[in-house]
Amino acid sequence: WEWPDGRPVRQRLLVVANRLPVSAVRRGEESWSLEISAGGLVSALLGVKEFEARWIGWAGVNVPDEAGQKALTKALAEKRCIPVFLDEEIVHQYYNGYCNNILWPLFHYLGLPQEDRLATTRSFQSQFAAYKKANKMFADVVNQHYEDGDVVWCHDYHLMFLPKCLKEYNSKMKVGWFLHTPFPSSEIHRTLPSRSELLRAVLAADLVGFHTYDYARHFVSACTRILGLEGTPEGVEDHGRLTRVAAFPIGIDSERFIRALELPQVQEHIKELKERFAGRKVMLGVDRLDMIKGIPQKILAFEKFLEENTYWRDKVVLLQIAVPTRTDVPEYQKLTSQVHEIVGRINGRFGTLTAVPIHHLDRSLDFHKLCALYAVTGTNYLHLVFFYCFKIVDVALVTSLRDGMNLVSYEFVACQDSKKGVLILSEKWTSLLLLE
Ligand code: G6P
Repeated sequence: WEWPDGRPVRQRLLVVANRLPVSAVRRGEESWSLEISAGGLVSALLGVKEFEARWIGWAGVNVPDEAGQKALTKALAEKRCIPVFLDEEIVHQYYNGYCNNILWPLFHYLGLPQEDRLATTRSFQSQFAAYKKANKMFADVVNQHYEDGDVVWCHDYHLMFLPKCLKEYNSKMKVGWFLHTPFPSSEIHRTLPSRSELLRAVLAADLVGFHTYDYARHFVSACTRILGLEGTPEGVEDHGRLTRVAAFPIGIDSERFIRALELPQVQEHIKELKERFAGRKVMLGVDRLDMIKGIPQKILAFEKFLEENTYWRDKVVLLQIAVPTRTDVPEYQKLTSQVHEIVGRINGRFGTLTAVPIHHLDRSLDFHKLCALYAVTGTNYLHLVFFYCFKIVDVALVTSLRDGMNLVSYEFVACQDSKKGVLILSEKWTSLLLLE
């Protein structure tokens, strides 16, 4: 990109997200290794190239000591990342609690946890206080690194308070906020005790973005119905100040996938996998192990298929890659046990001495080793694992119950050339893919 006079665009961009694109693992007192973080937000933003960007966020680890913090800050600086250090208590209350136990399920229409339906419960109050405190900590770091003219791009449900905190520091800062999850109907948002405060905090941004027109419309109607503000075709107006609201469906850098397929090591892995599953149709699921992804439902549907189609029992295999996520949150722990139990039962029922119908991988260790390679070489090896699979599968199954903008479906399609595998999407996703 360039300006009309030929100068390259050098707009500085400060990306702020709860999670950095790399997560840190401590190897020694002052030694760290960096591994690529999982999730749609990171996959999507890795494709942003037209700006000179710094990324501010949490490195996914508690670093209580000053020496460790200094060493990690230095290691991250090489990746253009700036850490926000959150202690264990804040992570527990803000990340595990308010973000992942309250906002995440609510925004995906799974409702509030029973005990949090009463705004007065102590845990809700302290989690919300921690959420605001954490957002202020992110704002402090942004403020330290901000230079006049920078654009600050805040991301996701973790940082709904951030636009407000930033504008309080400097009302001239250009602030955008983008949500990577659905924004639910105003009737669902209304059930959240802190509904109004959150909406007002987001409205402090200059531009608010969503994946789809429906999410944007839900946000505007939450502002009109809950806050009594005026919705206009451009956004939401409050006493003459307009916050622009729009849909920006996110995509992937498909060229990166297509190029990677030509790498000799990828070709080698594809060959190995083809030999391994010769004579069987291969179905694939790639998801974070999250309740919104519909993993138990997918596996149970596969069981029903085997039950009803005896011919296929030894001729089809389901590979389910389930990347462990938010492992300190009880709901996620329950889901992990549930999935393991179902997979074990089905493999016991339909397996033979030489083959099992489901290969379920939640081997974070293997992923971490591959991801460590990424940090060293700059190639996204987490995705390479999927490439191999994408090239050999006959059917990819994306069965999210709800999802912000599932990128696995795009990644799968990008990897089909001569293979022409089939993508099965849960109904909601079909319409989004057509939209794209
Ligand atoms: C989703 C969220 C992201 C998040 C990712 C991984 O894609 O929208 O904000 O980073 O999941 O979840 P985690 O809790 O591990 O960051």
